[in-house]
Amino acid sequence: MSAIRGEFSSRFGFIMAAAGSAVGLGNIWGFPTQTASNGGAAFLVAYLVLAFCLAYPALMAELVIGRHGQANAVSSLRKVTKHHWQHKFAFMVGFGGIICAGLILSFYAIVAGWMLSATLEPVAHLVGSDTTSNWLSEQSLSRNILFTAAFIILTVAIISKGVENGIEKWSKRLMPALLSILFALIIYVLTQDGAMAGLKAYLVPDFSSILNPELLVNALGQAFFSLSLGTSVMIIYGSYISKKENLVSLGAYVTLIDVFIAFVAGLLIIPAMYVAQAQGVEIFSAEGKLLSEDTLVFQVLPALFDGMGQVGIFVGFAFFALMSIAALTSSISMLEAPVSYTVERFALKRVQATWLIGGLIALVSFTIVFNLSSLFGLVITLTTKIAQPLLGLMCCIFVGWLWHRGSLLKEIQQGYPETEQRLFWKIWPWYIKFICPLAIALVFLNSILS
Ligand code: PFF
Repeated sequence: MSAIRGEFSSRFGFIMAAAGSAVGLGNIWGFPTQTASNGGAAFLVAYLVLAFCLAYPALMAELVIGRHGQANAVSSLRKVTKHHWQHKFAFMVGFGGIICAGLILSFYAIVAGWMLSATLEPVAHLVGSDTTSNWLSEQSLSRNILFTAAFIILTVAIISKGVENGIEKWSKRLMPALLSILFALIIYVLTQDGAMAGLKAYLVPDFSSILNPELLVNALGQAFFSLSLGTSVMIIYGSYISKKENLVSLGAYVTLIDVFIAFVAGLLIIPAMYVAQAQGVEIFSAEGKLLSEDTLVFQVLPALFDGMGQVGIFVGFAFFALMSIAALTSSISMLEAPVSYTVERFALKRVQATWLIGGLIALVSFTIVFNLSSLFGLVITLTTKIAQPLLGLMCCIFVGWLWHRGSLLKEIQQGYPETEQRLFWKIWPWYIKFICPLAIALVFLNSILS
């Protein structure tokens, strides 16, 4: 393996980095919100089944393309094709994924900036600076620009250091920190009045609603966003995995961690909603529907923290620090997709490429900040509802239909002996050929129809 490209130095390092990409605002904010507004435990059950049965096979497709190609997403996809038209198709899908990752980063950085400012707000409050505290907690152009820029600079600083000293080193530190904060918060929330009602809503399913088509489609969409599929990110992370590693179990670990953190975040947020409700904050309507999906994190939770008195200042700080860390380990993966392509395609130095791409993404982010009411929602819809499912579907087509089966088997066999006798190989190629493309097409159609 070329030393110039970089490689994850350890199994643990890869798992932390890929799980770091997967675990983000989608898990801690998106998943609990979706669960609360889609019928609680029934959504959880559907999510678990779909994440393991469909999102995991699709994640494996992207990882195996990358590990085989040992290069950026465009070159890796090209390597599994033979004909000229397929090469063009590979460029469209790989480059499309890179653009998609860049665009997701441009709105993700804005939300992450809100998380950073919400982390600092309790600190300003504690030192008695009311003007700063108000500025940090209210939407304003100056605050949004400053914190979006700060978040992009943090991301750039990590990515410019490369794979082992940047992505791997920081993911290994940040992911355990995130888990510790999450568990400390859960223990606190579960000791509060009202928490048990929340736990019941989260864990005791009403099986009658489980086959509701909207619930299923939302659960599948959430699982694909959460595993960072359809963005070239898992292709590029796959390309940094050593040929000695067992790809099948690595992918399974990443899926397990991602699902586990979403599940655990639900254990925090859903009981927290019920605790806030018990304290008089209006969260559910009389029919039990969630009143405010978008404002959950910025109104419901801060109200809950306020109700805790002095402890709330600390809890609020810990919660938003947790969100910022989760966002950072995801954003570094989004930046790596375009950076790795630019470094390899234009023979630029990594540091130069990182600042260049970081600068471009900052420009797009600022444009969104200046036109928040019109562009923010549009970019989210274009990337997460249209581009991600479509590009994820294309990756399944590459593996299921275009890649020669013998060569695919050979790639998986490295680090995974006797592949042909394993259950994985008996099922997965069929999944990737038929079931995954069909299921993704369903999500896609539903999202454009609605
Ligand atoms: N998986 C991340 C989350 O759940 O927040 C979001 C994400 C990361 C989406 C990387 C796309 C991506 F390329």
